[in-house]
Amino acid sequence: MSDQTDDFGGIDDDTWDRLAEAARNVRSHAYVPYSDFPVGAALLTTGGEIFAGCNVENATIGATVCAERTAIGCAVAAGHTEFVALAVITAVDPPSAPCGICRQVLAEFCDDMPILMINPAGGHRFTTLDELLPLRFSGRDFIDDKC
Ligand code: THU
Repeated sequence: MSDQTDDFGGIDDDTWDRLAEAARNVRSHAYVPYSDFPVGAALLTTGGEIFAGCNVENATIGATVCAERTAIGCAVAAGHTEFVALAVITAVDPPSAPCGICRQVLAEFCDDMPILMINPAGGHRFTTLDELLPLRFSGRDFIDDKC
């Protein structure tokens, strides 16, 4: 990683490497008979655990679940709802960013979060959830003053 992105988002580079590895590994399990576009995602919890997920497609197309949401589902099912970083791998250059639905679902569990997007060719870029989904609707809107 370049100097500019060292320890991006306060996550040390070893941890980013572990997240990238988990995303890379889980991508090999992607179920993608329709798009042939495998995606892997790995989430880091506040406790330092990593949960990974791949995309799971469906013949209806609409019932397809993205890798990011599979990772969130695995983590939540294991009792984890607080996340501090995400790595996503796609085989395109530049590496893809999470889709709009996944951004919203990620926002359910984190105010902001550093995100690493990578591809198998070594391409990588960093962003944040705030950058991807500014001015979002969230659970806070339910507790703000009604008028
Ligand atoms: N996909 C993801 O897994 N994550 C995203 O953020 C974008 C899209 C998947 C869904 C589908 O299986 C394939 O990529 C093509 O859209």
